[in-house]
Amino acid sequence: MAAASIKDVASLAGVSVGTVSNVLNRPEVVSDVTRERVEQAIAKLGFVRNESARALRAGRSRTVGMLVLDVANPFFTDVARGVEEVVTAHHSVLALYNTAEDPRRETTHLKHLQEQRVQGVLLTPVDLGNAAIRSLVEAGTPVVLVDRSWPRADHCSVAVDDVHGGGLAASHLLEQGRERLAFLGGPLSTQQVADRYRGAVAALDGSPDAVLRLVETPALTVAAGRDAGAALAALPAERRPTGIICANDLLALGVLQAMTRAGLRVPDDIALVGYDDIDYAAAAAVPLSSVRQPRELLGETAARLLFEEIGAADGPHQHQQVVFEPELVVRDSSRTGADA
Ligand code: RIB
Repeated sequence: MAAASIKDVASLAGVSVGTVSNVLNRPEVVSDVTRERVEQAIAKLGFVRNESARALRAGRSRTVGMLVLDVANPFFTDVARGVEEVVTAHHSVLALYNTAEDPRRETTHLKHLQEQRVQGVLLTPVDLGNAAIRSLVEAGTPVVLVDRSWPRADHCSVAVDDVHGGGLAASHLLEQGRERLAFLGGPLSTQQVADRYRGAVAALDGSPDAVLRLVETPALTVAAGRDAGAALAALPAERRPTGIICANDLLALGVLQAMTRAGLRVPDDIALVGYDDIDYAAAAAVPLSSVRQPRELLGETAARLLFEEIGAADGPHQHQQVVFEPELVVRDSSRTGADA
């Protein structure tokens, strides 16, 4: 039996093809009674729209592509949750891609999105010089940078002031009397890590007796935190840091596990601060202090800017560079002394 067509649905529901199209694409312009009648006809006939054909006619699909550095990192899925709220409200769909911080994957995904004629792309870039980004933009596809500030005004971007965030973490540990500090994170080619480290270094300016040791990690994962934490735990007590700033919470969870395995107490022996404030931070065996990023707000804002640009296809669009402020959340992993 041939698949039901949009004409079959219109005939069964007793409406025009245009009304069926509105129910599918702009349900808000159709009365509840008519929409209900069309939806019943769609269900009865088992109609499934041909998205490829629709995209071919419209020149654009209903899809928004989003590329994240690590789909296993709850930071990005929290951001994606904020994106999806806005994408759904615009009767579009979100396609999530993982670049695993690999520029070749980033290129493959961006080229695929261009072939699919997606409406727009939200990108946490691996390589801002990736030619596939420029190719997308030149093809008329809006690209909004997420979790990355952009030095020029030719893209919208949404980010958090990571230099300030790194400074918040380091200053907090110094205020707790911790003067032998380590910054754990990497690779430093990841802009977010480099900015956080820069902020932590600057925080020591007013503390001549304090030291900050950089421990660069190959990744921003729990395993990388566990390995680096074990190495620090193995140091003689007089050389071991008394406070550790981790570039994200996954690293901090790994460090916490390593310290516990080594019989060291957090925060008594070593105070610990993470970054992102994902849900697992508060749920950790020793609740993690963390520099909170407004994750869902980042996603909502990026998606809103993207749809403003999509909607301005025929008119002027003023690119915006939005920067949010991070917030330090103090919990047991760094609370010592009178604050404990
Ligand atoms: O991608 C690694 C990190 O950068 C995430 O944990 C989040 O902090 C992002 O800003």
